[in-house]
Amino acid sequence: MAPQQSTPDPSAHPRQPDHNRADLLEVLVEEHRTVERLFAVFETTADRARRRNTLATMLAELQRHGETEERYLYPATREYLSAGVDLAGHELRELAEVDALAERVRRLDDADPEFEPLVDALMTGIRHHVQEQETELFPRLRAACVPETLRQLGADASQP
Ligand SMILES: [Fe+2]
Repeated sequence: MAPQQSTPDPSAHPRQPDHNRADLLEVLVEEHRTVERLFAVFETTADRARRRNTLATMLAELQRHGETEERYLYPATREYLSAGVDLAGHELRELAEVDALAERVRRLDDADPEFEPLVDALMTGIRHHVQEQETELFPRLRAACVPETLRQLGADASQP
C-alpha cells in the first residue's frame, strides 16, 4: 500500500476551480457560474432592495469578466486558433452589445417600465455568450493549446 501523501495530488482533481492552479478556461467558466447564480437570485426574489443589490453585483462581475476576456482570452484566441482573429472579433462585437445593454440598465431606475425588459435582454445576451463560449470557443482552445499555456493564463488572470 502506498504511504499516505501529506499534500493532495494536483492531478487527482484537474477540474477543481482552485484559482491557484485553475487554467484560464476554468476561471472563466467559474465566473459564468457566478453570474448565473446572480441571475437566479434576481429572477426569484421579490425584494426590491435585494434585486437592486444583486443587479449591481451582477453588473460588476460582468464588467470584470469582460475585462479578463479582453485581456487574456481574445489574445489567446487570435494566437492559437486558425480562425482566431474572426472568432475574437465576433465575440467582441457581441460583448460590446452586452456592455451597451449593461450601461443602459445601470442608468435606469428599477421602476422605469423599460427596466425589466432591458434586464431580460441583458441576461439573454449573457446566456448566449456563455453557451457559445462553453460549447464552441473553449473546447477549440482546449484542443489547440498545451495545458501549461492555459494554466499560465489562468494564473495571470487570477492575479488580484
Ligand atoms: Fe465569458
